[in-house]
Amino acid sequence: AKVDIYAWRKRPSYTYQRHPLLSRRISQACRDRLVRTPTVIAMCGLPARGKTYISKKLARYLQWIGIKTKVFNVGEYRRVAVKFYADKDFFDPDNAEALAVRNQCAQQALEDMCSYLSDDGEVAIFDATNTTRERRRCIYEYCSQTFCFRVFFVESICDSSDIVNLNIREVKLKSPDYKDVPQEEAVTDFLSRIQQYEKRYETIDDTTERNYSFIKIFNCGERFLVHKIGGHIQSRVVYFLMNIHILPRTIYLTRHGESTLNQDLRIGGDSSLSANGKLYGEALAQYMENESIPDLIVWTSQMQRTIQTAAKINAPKEQWKALNEINAGICEGLTYMEIAERFPDELAARDQSKFYYRYPGGESYQDLVARLEPVIMELERAENVLVVCHQAVARCILGYFLNKDADDLPYTKVPLHTVIKLTPMAYGCLMECIPLHINAVNTHRRKPKNCRPDRTAHEALNDFLVTPLDPKPVLRTKSEIFYNSDGTRIKTTDVDGNRIQRND
Ligand code: ATP
Ligand code: F6P
Repeated sequence: AKVDIYAWRKRPSYTYQRHPLLSRRISQACRDRLVRTPTVIAMCGLPARGKTYISKKLARYLQWIGIKTKVFNVGEYRRVAVKFYADKDFFDPDNAEALAVRNQCAQQALEDMCSYLSDDGEVAIFDATNTTRERRRCIYEYCSQTFCFRVFFVESICDSSDIVNLNIREVKLKSPDYKDVPQEEAVTDFLSRIQQYEKRYETIDDTTERNYSFIKIFNCGERFLVHKIGGHIQSRVVYFLMNIHILPRTIYLTRHGESTLNQDLRIGGDSSLSANGKLYGEALAQYMENESIPDLIVWTSQMQRTIQTAAKINAPKEQWKALNEINAGICEGLTYMEIAERFPDELAARDQSKFYYRYPGGESYQDLVARLEPVIMELERAENVLVVCHQAVARCILGYFLNKDADDLPYTKVPLHTVIKLTPMAYGCLMECIPLHINAVNTHRRKPKNCRPDRTAHEALNDFLVTPLDPKPVLRTKSEIFYNSDGTRIKTTDVDGNRIQRND
């Protein structure tokens, strides 16, 4: 539905045009209010203050803890509406024509967002500057009075020109707005764009806007102001925002060296390292030594195989019970084949919904995510860390950094004897896999092609066969595999260091 482009400025919120379909959803949303109140998180701040960064990161965290979340970025609506960005004059608040287009984009994004929350979304993040009191009033009234949603404002304030300049160079120059524009010209234009916003910028005012729930973040977390938190989602958001930082760092992730139970292809237990596993412990210590990471700390689980793997690394170590491997309950100590024979119904149930399936007397991947939340929070606070953990635990941690959904997460390939290097970037995370080329069994059981509960025992068993890893190194250079933050595209370098693209 097309809306009056001046709606933002002229109309009191209760007269906004609404699509008839939306009206039905609205009343349903209001009826559901007592059961489930969706939350709108509205960003606020001048350009290059990390609003998109915070929105994406927050959405990834909320999704990972099981809260259905989506970001609505008004800049993307603007780029669809106006194919060609000329220059900063487009953002001049006295440019009536451009302002009308910008307001229409904001209105459209707002409507899409409310429609998403009226369906089955739980949290929507409205990623726009929202720098005027009037704009925030419109958002608040539209979302909370028309739709009965909770609204939480997140304002990022940054007066450090060093940070702003770095943000422009790191992120804004790559924006489609500056495709084919020389670097210095783009920087100058972006700084002028900020000035256009500064003309009308009103920070959230805790007297005239005291009804709102909000957090103000000053200079990337140097200081916070938190006001009128409403409900558990907002308090989790505040806790998360108070723990993140933007200092450059690397997170290393590895499974323990091969254990004696791995050799027998048995799951669970608390066995020691095999001979190959011990070799991996040595190779890992050598690898970390070569990396010479300042102030590295090493986290292990409380299981023998991770403690033994990390023993030779020259860095302070901490043990976390939360990093222990998934508890397989009645299946602990069995091979997948034995589970298929003894508990075929359990295996069928797991195959149909691996993330949610809980072993009788044990845990599910969903339980693991809940158990690992404090680890993730501490990883966000930390700088350089090596985490030595287990297959299912590593999958959950990677699921967080690479934004994997519940279907893919439990099938992520995390081979033994491989170091995974995670480097947080502006809007995602770079992943590099470094195999240390020490032989090990393969413990990855792929998703069965046939997950039907009525499959025959023969069909099921065929799928449970695990095969030894090819001992030959597949890739020869040191850092070869690069995944984007969505975990899909893989780039590799050839032995001469030239980047090549692979489609697998
Ligand atoms: P725009 O309004 O133009 O969309 P923006 O406010 O959304 O800008 P981002 O694109 O998110 O800005 O800027 C990303 C950069 O912001 C990243 O390089 C990140 O390191 C940095 N950043 C993250 N958090 C903050 C913060 N609280 N204050 C300032 N910069 C931050
Ligand atoms: O096989 C090694 C192991 O770490 C087991 O202890 C654990 O039960 C299993 O991997 C987890 O992987 P999946 O969820 O694929 O069974």
